[in-house]
Amino acid sequence: MTYSGRLNGKVAIITGAASGIGKAAARLFAREGAKLVLADISVEALKEVAEEIKDQGGAAVLKKADVSKEDEVKELIDFSLSTYTEVHILCNNAGITGNFLYSNPEDQNSEDWFQVYAVNVMGAMYGIKHIAAHMKQRGSGAIVNTASVAGIRAGAGTNAYSASKAAVISLTQTGACDLGKFNVRVNAVCPGLTETGMSKPLFDYARETGKEGKLGNRCELRRYGKPEEIAAAILFLASDEASYITGQALPVDGGNTASLNLPGMKY
Ligand SMILES: NC(=O)c1ccc[n+]([C@@H]2O[C@H](COP(=O)([O-])OP(=O)(O)OC[C@H]3O[C@@H](n4cnc5c(N)ncnc54)[C@H](O)[C@@H]3O)[C@@H](O)[C@H]2O)c1
Repeated sequence: MTYSGRLNGKVAIITGAASGIGKAAARLFAREGAKLVLADISVEALKEVAEEIKDQGGAAVLKKADVSKEDEVKELIDFSLSTYTEVHILCNNAGITGNFLYSNPEDQNSEDWFQVYAVNVMGAMYGIKHIAAHMKQRGSGAIVNTASVAGIRAGAGTNAYSASKAAVISLTQTGACDLGKFNVRVNAVCPGLTETGMSKPLFDYARETGKEGKLGNRCELRRYGKPEEIAAAILFLASDEASYITGQALPVDGGNTASLNLPGMKY
């Protein structure tokens, strides 16, 4: 991939930046010229990402923040503004799956649901809430939420996860409606199965049981995604190239949600 300074002069906050898609987005944003605030609960891993970016000439500071806690999200935004004065891009990317033990309707566990909602939905809501005044006042901004194909169709995660990601898509639409007149865009990516920390148990299991070939075979491209491929879509939505796009949830899923059929059923 060639880099052309698409984020030169921009400041971006990325949550969940210590691993997987957030880490790939951090690396890509830095190479495209953004100054970064990296946030996560996993501080040691976050330090490594920030060091790597700085070693390669990028600009990154880090902030420990649990996005399920409103005061910590507010502190993250305040810290970002005091460090760089402006924030142009907010990526609400941190997320959790919930417990796969709770698979049947009668097994659903409210504590698990509340935790999944607290991180995936409230985390993104707190981010939008606390960056809105700054972006409105400046008259521009781009917010990119990481939703999921699970928010579009059932069967790609726990029930709580699916419902939470559908809520993230809705939050994207309501955010776009609330902020559009201030030239603040709110979009989401909906990744399909991607190899990251979150999906590691699934990948480990498939590899251990000789089922690796099945990973991602439910999508038309018949393979799973790489974090860098999701990061590329996040970059596009965050950049000025997407200046007339808001309120959209873009599947980045190898065609998984394009079809009601199994891949290749027609042939
Ligand atoms: N991997 C996939 O197949 C897939 C598919 C669709 C959507 N997603 C979404 O992509 C996003 C990134 O996940 P990933 O796949 O890179 O997984 P990951 O586990 O590799 O990364 C998620 C990061 O979020 C951090 N995090 C978790 N809870 C947090 C909290 N309360 N506050 C701050 N940080 C927190 C984790 O420490 C981790 O670094 C998530 O929103 C996830 O739901 C992933």
